[in-house]
Amino acid sequence: MRVNSWNGWDPLTHVIVGRADGTMVQAPEPTVVRDWPDDGFPAGAYGPLPDDMVQAANAQLDAFADLLRSRGIRVDRPDVIDFGRPVSTPDWEQGSMFGCMPPRDVLVTVGSEILEATMSYRSRWFEYLCYRPLLDSYFRDDPDMRWEAAPKPRLTDDAYKPGFWPEYEALGFDEQIARVRENDLALTEIEPLFDAADIARCGKDLFVQLSMVTNRSGVDWLRRHFPEHRVHPVTFGNTHPVHIDATWVPLRPGLVLHCGEREAEEDLVQYFKINDWEIVSAARPAKTWDELPKLCFCSPWLSMNVLSLSPDTVCVEAGETAQMELLDSLGFEVVPVPFWDVAPFGGGLHCSTVDIHREGELQDYFPKRYGRF
Ligand code: ARG
Repeated sequence: MRVNSWNGWDPLTHVIVGRADGTMVQAPEPTVVRDWPDDGFPAGAYGPLPDDMVQAANAQLDAFADLLRSRGIRVDRPDVIDFGRPVSTPDWEQGSMFGCMPPRDVLVTVGSEILEATMSYRSRWFEYLCYRPLLDSYFRDDPDMRWEAAPKPRLTDDAYKPGFWPEYEALGFDEQIARVRENDLALTEIEPLFDAADIARCGKDLFVQLSMVTNRSGVDWLRRHFPEHRVHPVTFGNTHPVHIDATWVPLRPGLVLHCGEREAEEDLVQYFKINDWEIVSAARPAKTWDELPKLCFCSPWLSMNVLSLSPDTVCVEAGETAQMELLDSLGFEVVPVPFWDVAPFGGGLHCSTVDIHREGELQDYFPKRYGRF
């Protein structure tokens, strides 16, 4: 086996697919307080997601894994640990962990390197442990695999803005977007913090969303860690930015899918355009906010959280008809995959996976510079 993946679209041959088992509505922590009074989890309450939901999600995850295998793709699965256990470091105690459905959040593959992200929630600090048996086996089986972990963050109270959410929620849309553009959000800059799912890989260019879980220091760390790449911090007009893969999803050289509701910065748009990329607005999601599954902390835009199997084949949630038709009209073979039962466990088809091997080498898809890019 060989670890190799430079972008999100080259032919996929080896992938990790997450598991729903044991996933928690996590215990409160400085910037995460779940509040679902109608579904058994009023603010401050925490505990495992209901069994029937776990079974339904696992059925979809297993079927997805089988579908990938039927296409000749090797699929590995993480180790489930006891996410209900309280955890601590010398700096803090946290009532529970979270789960291991979305490997995309924790790991990023860049060429022959797999990098473990810092993560920025205390409940997710130990999540890398679920992937260690796999990472260890890749390290043994591939003599060229580079196994890296970003500096484990301390996540003291000083890593978070005190009283962030009440103050932020009281702002209007424009004020919130101004804060997003400045990345004046939940995290301070006391240490580098990022989730892997804020990174969109396009060969030599890595686009990293500044978000509720990724700060400037985190992007700066990535820039210094990948000196052969161009690492670009980017923002979108999304009041609650968490992970780039329901906002800006490159599908093949020259085509990126964009959540039109979340405006891209003008320089980013121009950078894509002068390099002959087409920016296509994702189709309206099939679900409204009210129709999301219970205990779901993601948005209806999981509709565009698609997984490319190659530059002309893409897996799309099976109920997202408009999205499937749009991709079909753009010349893709669309593979429908039922997946909404997985959403409450942390995301869609892209979130639930992480590439270990795609054919293809490092390429520069953006030869022309523009503005700060
Ligand atoms: N926060 C995004 C949205 O709701 C979902 C992104 C999920 N991505 C992930 N890798 N877990 O629009």
